[in-house]
Amino acid sequence: IPVDPFDLVIFGGTGDLARRKILPGLFRRYCAGQIEGDVRITGAARGEMDTQGYRDFAAEAIMASDQSAGTKKAHLDEFLAMLHYVVVDAMGDDGWEELARITRSDRIRAFYFSVAPRLFGPLAERLHQHGLADGQTRIVVEKPFGRDLKTARELNRVLAEHFDESQIYRIDHYLGKETVQNLMAIRFGNMLFEPLWNSQYVDHIQITVAEAVGVGGRGDYYDRAGAMRDMMQNHLMQLLCLIAMEPPAKFNPDSVRDEKLKVIRALDPVAPDDVVRGQYEGSGGRPSYRNQVGNRDSTTESFVALRARVSNWRWAGTPFYLRTGKRLKERASEIAVVFKDAPHSIFGEEAGRHRNILTIKLQPNEGIELGVTIKEPGPGGMRLVDVPLDMTFAEALGPEEADFPDAYERLIMDVIRGNQTLFMRGDEVEEAWAWADEVIAGWEKRGDDPLPYATGSAGPDDALMLMHRDGRRWREIKA
Ligand code: BG6
Repeated sequence: IPVDPFDLVIFGGTGDLARRKILPGLFRRYCAGQIEGDVRITGAARGEMDTQGYRDFAAEAIMASDQSAGTKKAHLDEFLAMLHYVVVDAMGDDGWEELARITRSDRIRAFYFSVAPRLFGPLAERLHQHGLADGQTRIVVEKPFGRDLKTARELNRVLAEHFDESQIYRIDHYLGKETVQNLMAIRFGNMLFEPLWNSQYVDHIQITVAEAVGVGGRGDYYDRAGAMRDMMQNHLMQLLCLIAMEPPAKFNPDSVRDEKLKVIRALDPVAPDDVVRGQYEGSGGRPSYRNQVGNRDSTTESFVALRARVSNWRWAGTPFYLRTGKRLKERASEIAVVFKDAPHSIFGEEAGRHRNILTIKLQPNEGIELGVTIKEPGPGGMRLVDVPLDMTFAEALGPEEADFPDAYERLIMDVIRGNQTLFMRGDEVEEAWAWADEVIAGWEKRGDDPLPYATGSAGPDDALMLMHRDGRRWREIKA
């Protein structure tokens, strides 16, 4: 279904995110028929460029992200005709009059802040000054949303001076991922799981977001952030919330976000012994973390694993093990809900211990797998074996149906539709920082360095110990 005609202004319109995600994403939505009619997309940045230059830039970005874009030449030309460029100075006066002139106040106007966080405040202020903040205006704010509770609060305060919370869309792109939303469908669309979704039946939950890449060209930013701030405080925290939250009464923005907030508030402080940090070493011609960020003494972590506890009626006694890192074995992210053993084995000791595991695979092969115990086929008596009931979406739905929109595509369309369900509310972000700040303060106080780990491994051995000492094991990192 097409969305209503809109104006979208991308601050940082020639930046990395615009090139890799925003412009190609908008083009795909255009091809899917979701964007049509009198739509205007304006790239805004400080650099000198004209509209034709911007269209060329966008064409290149789109072709680079989608090899087949060239074959959709007619589509591409029509899409490019929606693009414009304005030179805008966030700190000065350049371009604002023009933006006010070309964007229309009688329809949806979205301003995407794809710029350094220090510019969020000035942009919000300028928009307000130039009469661009009212009516159906929304702003989209990228991460990082602060680097601790104090800075996040300050950002919220500055934005709130000029915009109502209902106009602010804080992006966590993990919420736009297909399987992440499916998590809610599975939990709340089936009768099967919810009755078992508590500490009485669930032994523990594992959340792994493993990346094979290193920090790449983002060393400057990353070395000041680290895995805790870059991934754990936001993406993994959001996953934890969706897994642990109570069923919201409705699938609407505030019902969902209220429930997520309660989860964060129920988190216990993480004990220092329950956190393991790591930093990757170089190997096989690949640079070490320290080399890559150009900081020989860096004590920033590129890996973090921890044991979290949600202290509420539902989850008391069920630990949540979370880990994320770069330069690990593979790019593989999943959530595993590990159920308890059956209370009594009628098949005797030799049948072994078997347990059900529900795995929600986020990437790269989205799908759901339920490990069930069955009889090993054959005449050998009652031997048990665990097999997966596997539902890889691409197989179950066919490749066409499983050609999901990218997270950014979906989230941008939600902004235009005015649906905030998959965006973080200000209070949520602050609570998540309050929790992360304590964890960080814990290791800063101890003053210990991250542990080295080999490229292509599963992180430092101590991270394995985090579970071994509880008599549990991480699942293998595999796509
Ligand atoms: C970003 C982080 O938010 O998420 C990056 O800043 C990380 O460091 C990226 O690589 C991972 O996203 P995805 O969608 O590739 O899992």
